[in-house]
Amino acid sequence: MRVYVIDDKEEYIPITLDKFAEGHAVPFEVFTDDCGIKKSLFDKGFIFNRFAMSMIVRQGLSRFYIKTANNLNFTEYLRHAEKMNRMVKDDSVLFIDYSEYKRRHGYIDKTLLSPLIPVDFELGGMRYPVFGGIPLASGTLTKDALNGLMELNADIVVRSEDVAKYQAYLQRLLDLRHETSTEKRIIQIKQELLRGLFSTYLHDRENRALLDTLLRETGDLVSHIERYAESPASEMKDLLEIRNVDSYVSVHSVNVCIFSVLLGIRLGLDPGILRQLAAGALLHDIGKFLISYAVINKQGDLTIDEYRLYCTHVAEGERFARALGCLPPHVCDIIGQHHERLDGSGYPLGLSGKEITILSQIVTVADSYEALITSTPKRRGKSREETMAILRNDAEKKQALNRTIYHALNSILNES
Ligand SMILES: [Fe+2]
Repeated sequence: MRVYVIDDKEEYIPITLDKFAEGHAVPFEVFTDDCGIKKSLFDKGFIFNRFAMSMIVRQGLSRFYIKTANNLNFTEYLRHAEKMNRMVKDDSVLFIDYSEYKRRHGYIDKTLLSPLIPVDFELGGMRYPVFGGIPLASGTLTKDALNGLMELNADIVVRSEDVAKYQAYLQRLLDLRHETSTEKRIIQIKQELLRGLFSTYLHDRENRALLDTLLRETGDLVSHIERYAESPASEMKDLLEIRNVDSYVSVHSVNVCIFSVLLGIRLGLDPGILRQLAAGALLHDIGKFLISYAVINKQGDLTIDEYRLYCTHVAEGERFARALGCLPPHVCDIIGQHHERLDGSGYPLGLSGKEITILSQIVTVADSYEALITSTPKRRGKSREETMAILRNDAEKKQALNRTIYHALNSILNES
């Protein structure tokens, strides 16, 4: 929220915000009153939503105004607001809006935001069915504003065009020595940087230099995780935390990458193999970007045809990876086998037992864990206990997942 004093010769009329249509842009500027001086509160075109309301409440604002000249605009807006509010209640209409908003924004880890570095990009909030810009004092984030963000039960996002600014922000965080004194925090920031880099690569897949950087940064992250795992005070389970409340391919992929690396370390893999595992885990769902976004992002049940299309992300991804010609065979195998199951019940080929590489089996366990525990707009993520019970059943009873890998995950989660 940009707050600045405006020319006070204008005339204003008071308004109430309770009739505003949630999730829609408001076509006029809104002001508040500070000791008789009108201050701009929201720019014209801001998205009115529960985040805006919660920030207003936190700041104790109660009086709102528009310029008298905008009165006609306001009356017209109210006439449509009721219709828009009805529309908002229509789930399918809202979900299309939500998906579009999600497509144009990138998830960020709000716990990394620091009062020490000014924010020069706009923050948005997402929690289905609510989404939109968050009104915050721009520049330095106060402790209050940060607390407000932590309390919001929502994903925090930045606009796609601001991703570079956010990356620069993270780089500055890394440069702040006392801020990044723990290896765990460095891993979190590196993880966030990798997520941004991966998002950029997903939209620019022909860019070989970018792929090289991505693989190099993945290797660098693996080195940090290896160091972290060796230090006596570290708990590997700390790196298994999931913060997002929605699913994004880039978030999921980086999570699966880190989980796979932790499993690989626990299973005693060689450093070279560990880096191939990391690359394969990061790229395992690359095929999702080669098929329909509408199907990949659809919440709830897919039709049979949609499911068939969804399943092609495996073969499409593997074909793409092999065609690159620069990825080790193990990496391509992971992409092609991450939905196979040891009992032959998986796809696309129905491979079983030793036909599936051990690295693919590791990614399958990491992928299953991440997918079960993550919430989506239509499905609440399962608890850690529920998730592990399902994986135990898949490993012990169905023999669909590798038991040793399941136990490695269980031992990481239970270490104290
Ligand atoms: Fe997948």
